[in-house]
Amino acid sequence: MHPLDTLREGLADLEARALLRRHRVADTPCAAHMTVDGRATVGFASNDYLGLAAHPLLADAVAEGARRFGSGSGGSHLLGGHSRAHAVLADELAAFAGGFVDAPRALTFSTGYMSNVAAVTALAGRGTTLFSDALNHASLIDGARLSRADVQVYPHADTAALEAMLEACDTPAKAIVTDAVFSMDGSIAPLARLLELAERHGAWLLVDDAHGFGVLGPQGRGAVAQAALRSPNLVYLCTFGKAVGVAGAAAIAHETVIEWLLQRARPYIFTTAASPAEAHAVSASLALIAGAEGDARRAHLAALIERTRTILRATPWRPIDSPTAVQPLIIGGNEDTLALTARLDAQGLWVPAIRPPTVPAGTSRLRISLSAGHSFDDLDRLQAALVHSGDCA
Ligand SMILES: Cc1ncc(COP(=O)(O)O)c(C=O)c1O
Repeated sequence: MHPLDTLREGLADLEARALLRRHRVADTPCAAHMTVDGRATVGFASNDYLGLAAHPLLADAVAEGARRFGSGSGGSHLLGGHSRAHAVLADELAAFAGGFVDAPRALTFSTGYMSNVAAVTALAGRGTTLFSDALNHASLIDGARLSRADVQVYPHADTAALEAMLEACDTPAKAIVTDAVFSMDGSIAPLARLLELAERHGAWLLVDDAHGFGVLGPQGRGAVAQAALRSPNLVYLCTFGKAVGVAGAAAIAHETVIEWLLQRARPYIFTTAASPAEAHAVSASLALIAGAEGDARRAHLAALIERTRTILRATPWRPIDSPTAVQPLIIGGNEDTLALTARLDAQGLWVPAIRPPTVPAGTSRLRISLSAGHSFDDLDRLQAALVHSGDCA
């Protein structure tokens, strides 16, 4: 059989199991109200939690950054590509979100996928036992696989099970790895308890706060700040493509950890540095996030979250109890979930269906993602469409 036929068979199999994924093309910037595939829609699909992705100040910052520092970095960070914009951003990030450790330092990356793979592979290797939450993001899982550490997966958020696993482990080098906000459930990891265990067992605690940075904690400083944790064992990972409204990511930790990543993390060393224009825009976004506008957007988002929880509890499906902007509604089967998404789509609402392997089989769901750009009218429309779809389910 030709290798192309093998791929065709694989694709046909995905289609038969309602697992094919498709692009939808946004004709207008990411926002609560946008045009997708030529049709006006209310978008509940983005991770633009503060509604900053199309903020005019950030568009200006990208343009200004490109004029001052160039559109391209021209090289990897250690071979000519590290611009003043990257250096300034790293210092701002350490000051903004590094309050959990003395001597904080930050290192920026092009994406969160890369910062996660970088941190996990640089801090865990052969001879390390790495404890990973069962619902961790794919980038942490891939980092764990690449690291060649002995990987032990603990049941989701189950700190008693993790404690037993740590006690049974006699490897001196250990790391615990967790999402802060689980991307498909919206729930928050038990960070205080995880840190207690990490410190007691001499382990790193790597926290991926992709969905909390900018949204949780005072001034949006993130999940670790919200939990008021402090420890040199913490390695904090945050991304800029979600609430920050731009792109990129950072690792923030004790300066020695960051120096180690700079020397050893292959996804940092062997890639072109992200555009300095992007770094400049992230700096502008941090100023918005930390200020009065950020507070107002977080307050509106909190009110939208509460209203959505009430709406979802009244549907015939199973909502996950989530305190964050990610509000999942479990439908169950792939076909049923796709059919519901299509019914909402017909009513001008874009709510993505999340299916395996992103979530466990049998728990396919709608992932309703809220943004400070939404209005209560948008939620009324969502409620009406869900009621209508529930009646015809
Ligand atoms: C929990 C989590 N971590 C990391 C990432 C990767 O970040 P990025 O999109 O910047 O690569 C994502 C999503 O994209 C995520 O949901």
